[in-house]
Amino acid sequence: MYKVYIHQSTESKRVRLRRDTRDTPDTGVADGSGGTYIVNKFINEHQLPHLLFYGPPGTGKTSTILACAKKLFKPAQFNSMVLELNASDDRGIGSVRGQILSFASTGTMYKSGFKLIILDEADAMTNDAQNALRRIMEKYTENVRFCIICNYLSKIIPALQSRCTKFRFGSLNSEQILPRLEHVVKEENIKITEDGKRALMELSGGDMRKVLNVLQSTWLAFGDVTETNVYSCVGHPLPIDIKNIVNWLLNEQYFSAYSKINDLKIKKGLALQDILTQLHLLVNKIEFPDNIIMELIIKLAQIEKQTAAGCNEAVQLNALVSAFQNARDIEKM
Ligand SMILES: Nc1ncnc2c1ncn2[C@@H]1O[C@H](COP(=O)(O)OP(=O)(O)OP(=O)(O)O)[C@@H](O)[C@H]1O
Ligand SMILES: [Mg+2]
Repeated sequence: MYKVYIHQSTESKRVRLRRDTRDTPDTGVADGSGGTYIVNKFINEHQLPHLLFYGPPGTGKTSTILACAKKLFKPAQFNSMVLELNASDDRGIGSVRGQILSFASTGTMYKSGFKLIILDEADAMTNDAQNALRRIMEKYTENVRFCIICNYLSKIIPALQSRCTKFRFGSLNSEQILPRLEHVVKEENIKITEDGKRALMELSGGDMRKVLNVLQSTWLAFGDVTETNVYSCVGHPLPIDIKNIVNWLLNEQYFSAYSKINDLKIKKGLALQDILTQLHLLVNKIEFPDNIIMELIIKLAQIEKQTAAGCNEAVQLNALVSAFQNARDIEKM
């Protein structure tokens, strides 16, 4: 029998996670890099530079700047002091020369402070529009501060990058997600188990929006949020399914392994792509010599590429079983 080490105890880790967590109290934005702490300091000292927030989706960029805007301006001032433009608004060169320029160049009714222009999803702005912003940003710095938000920094022209203080919003880890998740669960009175929380965090890939969306869908669909319900809700294989698959691949004969995995796939409606992603995490823990593991990983990568390219799933599943059989045969030699 080949052995795979899968589950490590997470209980002791969990206790530590709670203690280390920092949740910026006044914005409710979980922050790993310390970015929101620095922005908070800027605001408290009335020294806000132009800002550039970038990073993957669902990590709190838009939430952070909206929280800052709420801190900077009273609700009555909000409409006249903040201009928020996102991908659903026109932000071509015409709008930069028109709407943005007129907002930036007009004075404020309130003596102190500056206006705020939030350009969300700015990676969709054309280079011409970004170029047109260069002069406006410099000329009206006294009057207005810009906050540019994007997913891909490379889509923002270097000249704009150099005018802004950059903050990278990394994917959130469990330490940052957990307190926020627990807060939402408490407020909404949701029945959730510890393994349900863990499943949500694992599936999210560091995207808080995804955590909340899957939480809501699971709660609506099943009532209770448990590990099984979370995985079934998104159609993702359960850890126990993956463990079974690995055991079949390592210990069953070719046809038996193929038909068992195929039956499971059909019964639970699993996609080969999802199986491969999870499988990859376990392959490194198999007790094969390095050279065999290397061969196996290369084959898994090829199968994943072919599956993504739309090749026949049955053929790719055969290829997967073959790859493991091959590795076992070489190991026996
Ligand atoms: N760091 C965080 N702390 C607390 N909640 C968060 C955090 N990040 C995201 N969220 C939650 O996820 C939702 C989406 O976040 P937000 O719109 O700020 O993401 P974003 O970084 O702007 O993503 P995108 O790049 O897709 O626009 C928010 O409504 C909030 O509930
Ligand atoms: Mg956003």
